[in-house]
Amino acid sequence: MNSNELKTTLQELKYPGVGRSIGELKLLGEIKVVSNVANIELLTISDESYLNVKKIIEEKFANTFTALNITKKNLAKKDMNYGNSATPNNRAPYAKNIIAVTSGKGGVGKSTVSVNIAISLAQKGYKVGILDADVYGPNIPRLTNTDLQRIQWDDNDKIIPAENYGIKIMSVALTTPTMDTPLVWRSSVAVNALIQFLEDVAWGELDFMVIDMPPGTGDVQLTIAQELPIAAAVLVTTPQVVATDDVSRAIMMFKDIHVKMAGVIENMSFFIAPDTQNRYDIFGTGGGERIAKKYEIPFLGEIPLDMKIRESSDKGEPPVALGDESLKKYYNKIVDNIIKNSAFHL
Ligand SMILES: Nc1ncnc2c1ncn2[C@@H]1O[C@H](COP(=O)(O)OP(=O)(O)O)[C@@H](O)[C@H]1O
Ligand SMILES: [Mg+2]
Repeated sequence: MNSNELKTTLQELKYPGVGRSIGELKLLGEIKVVSNVANIELLTISDESYLNVKKIIEEKFANTFTALNITKKNLAKKDMNYGNSATPNNRAPYAKNIIAVTSGKGGVGKSTVSVNIAISLAQKGYKVGILDADVYGPNIPRLTNTDLQRIQWDDNDKIIPAENYGIKIMSVALTTPTMDTPLVWRSSVAVNALIQFLEDVAWGELDFMVIDMPPGTGDVQLTIAQELPIAAAVLVTTPQVVATDDVSRAIMMFKDIHVKMAGVIENMSFFIAPDTQNRYDIFGTGGGERIAKKYEIPFLGEIPLDMKIRESSDKGEPPVALGDESLKKYYNKIVDNIIKNSAFHL
């Protein structure tokens, strides 16, 4: 077997558990066969993916060559330098604008905000998709009352996204046997699944793709910043955690990797007593605005802590879709501010 034959065979090998080939995943570096010794360089994003691929290659070519030299060129280092995010790939050319919704910590309302922003945009007449990239805590299907839908394939072997409230929805939670099946994926597999959701889902033409990012700063965030041109990153925080390192780290990361921060949203900002309509600033006021000022990014608005938001969200009835005007206005104002602060292609 010569170098070219080896390369072709390698490209077609399937990456375990992902349903895509090593060639498609661009994991091959230099391939050379010299006097029946195969030298294979793997471009890997993590040690796990290197070991996975090495194993299937060793199995496949156990008796083909005198020796197999499999080496790795670790792209993780480059990732840590935030190498390609200044000129990212575009795995979603069908989406005119990508909005990434992020947070320093979990539980601050990032998914609730993502869903309501997406629906608000759809209500303005835009074509909108939402990608649940929070692979370890995927709850967009529950929030949109699509959690009982399971993915299907169209005639072109593309995944048909779920749909409700005028938005298209894709989440790993739609692919597991039940919504609450825990995912025990390594980060490299999670990243590959997300890339499949970008490339193999029949999203159609979209004006906006809203991405519910995982909280914090990690592999998934970096990959998305490298694989997609993010037009606007918005950071959701609550007054309790606004001054924590997690929030500043998240802002710093997106600044470092040249992703445009459209601004900060302060969720659960204040409480209006349902009986008296009195406003209570339980955790003080102005935290979101202060952090926005500190990092020179816009402040997009606040959303009150309101029982109706939690109750309706838990039922899969987003406030912007089915709530009353008094709640809708907070999200709609934020969407107007995001549009104002971003150079969207519309
Ligand atoms: N403004 C709000 N008022 C009351 N409850 C909220 C509000 N925003 C979110 N929640 C509730 O807080 C919990 C966490 O929200 P979620 O969107 O799942 O957070 P994250 O995605 O950041 O983990 C959910 O139960 C949600 O219904
Ligand atoms: Mg969430």
